[in-house]
Amino acid sequence: MKFVRFIMKNVALASAPHHIEHFSKFSPSPLSMKQFLDFGSTNACEKTSFVFLRQELPVRLSNIMKEINLLPKRLLTTPSVQMVQSWYIQSLMEILEFLEKSPDDQSVLEEFVNALVNIRNRHNDVVPTMAQGVIEYKEVFGQDPVTNQNIQYFLDRFYLSRISIRMLINQHTLVFDGATNPVHPNTIGSIDPHCQVAEVVKDAYESARMLCDQYYLSSPDLVLQELNTDNRNQPISIVYVPSHLYHMLFELFKNAMRATIENHKEGSNLPLIQVMVAIGGEDLTVKMSDQGGGVPFRKMENVFSYMYSTAPKPQMDDKHRAPLAGFGYGLPISRLYAKYFQGDLQLYSMEGHGTDAVIHLKALSTDSVERLPVFNKTARRNYEVTQGADDWCVPSREPLDLAVFRLAK
Ligand SMILES: Nc1ncnc2c1ncn2[C@@H]1O[C@H](COP(=O)(O)OP(=O)(O)OP(=O)(O)O)[C@@H](O)[C@H]1O
Ligand SMILES: [Mg+2]
Repeated sequence: MKFVRFIMKNVALASAPHHIEHFSKFSPSPLSMKQFLDFGSTNACEKTSFVFLRQELPVRLSNIMKEINLLPKRLLTTPSVQMVQSWYIQSLMEILEFLEKSPDDQSVLEEFVNALVNIRNRHNDVVPTMAQGVIEYKEVFGQDPVTNQNIQYFLDRFYLSRISIRMLINQHTLVFDGATNPVHPNTIGSIDPHCQVAEVVKDAYESARMLCDQYYLSSPDLVLQELNTDNRNQPISIVYVPSHLYHMLFELFKNAMRATIENHKEGSNLPLIQVMVAIGGEDLTVKMSDQGGGVPFRKMENVFSYMYSTAPKPQMDDKHRAPLAGFGYGLPISRLYAKYFQGDLQLYSMEGHGTDAVIHLKALSTDSVERLPVFNKTARRNYEVTQGADDWCVPSREPLDLAVFRLAK
């Protein structure tokens, strides 16, 4: 019996490329915040969600799997990337098993929820595993601008796709497991229709401060200011996923605290971290300002790179690693969370003084629509970039000897 199951599984896996080819021809369908809320509202229909997901999840998985295949061969063949690829194939095949099943059968719907939970767990370690693959590659082959650009382009799209797939899975499993969230009874899946931004800022600050106190034995204080121009006495709230906002703010606080402390070694009078939250007709903006000495302008383009961190390289199994800095993924992944619902995250620095990190989100839920990568000719072309000659002059290191240009007398 075990042998038959083994054979069946391998036959199924062998057909994976055919399915990937088929589903990658469809474009993913971005959902708006309103659609997410409708899927999870009181008259939510589990069958509709099931029928949507058994098509949409394979489409999103297949679109990004086509791009994994375009990675440089030497990265694609690292054990870590191979492992991630095998998780994607297995999860795709597990969802496809539901294509022929009837949505009218309650046991099928329950099976589907269980399958999604399994898939979510299988993919828990995708980010550190992929990061490990990049480190392995970097150690053996070093870095060059073309590969860096390729990897940056790919990982931004890959992680954004992953955020979106997890969002779909979370919404379905949370909304249809029949229980309400005991801590936040008003949330719809992972969305809070009245997410109070300042509360999330305070939560993220407290968690980062605890880590900072543990590691450095002190931490900078917080000053929080809200600017709600239309409704001065009301706290600012938006329809949003609090865990996403928390993730971004926690990463920004860790960076701001680390910079503040390392820039004030004496530690007695640590300058404050200031956070300002403002809302207008279109934007919700959170600005975090520190006095941690800033980043030189030349290095600014590196801070969002997956190939760069100033922190010592963490080991996968290192339990004692510095808690405030790790793979150097804090900023790039936070920016993806902001971009996911059409926002952005930017850094402005004054070297010698400090840094302003700004999160821009959409104030209106009608503007918050998923931003998703699609695999097409344009995407494919981005992996075919080759390194040409520089079209800007490279200044010589030696001072120019003007004597040679002097007219002979
Ligand atoms: N507020 C800041 N002040 C000064 N430098 C900063 C600040 N924020 C980020 N940086 C610089 O940008 C780099 C990248 O930040 P990022 O958060 O992406 O990675 P990290 O902090 O090194 O590791 P982790 O993955 O744990 O976040 C940091 O190593 C640091 O050099
Ligand atoms: Mg960081």
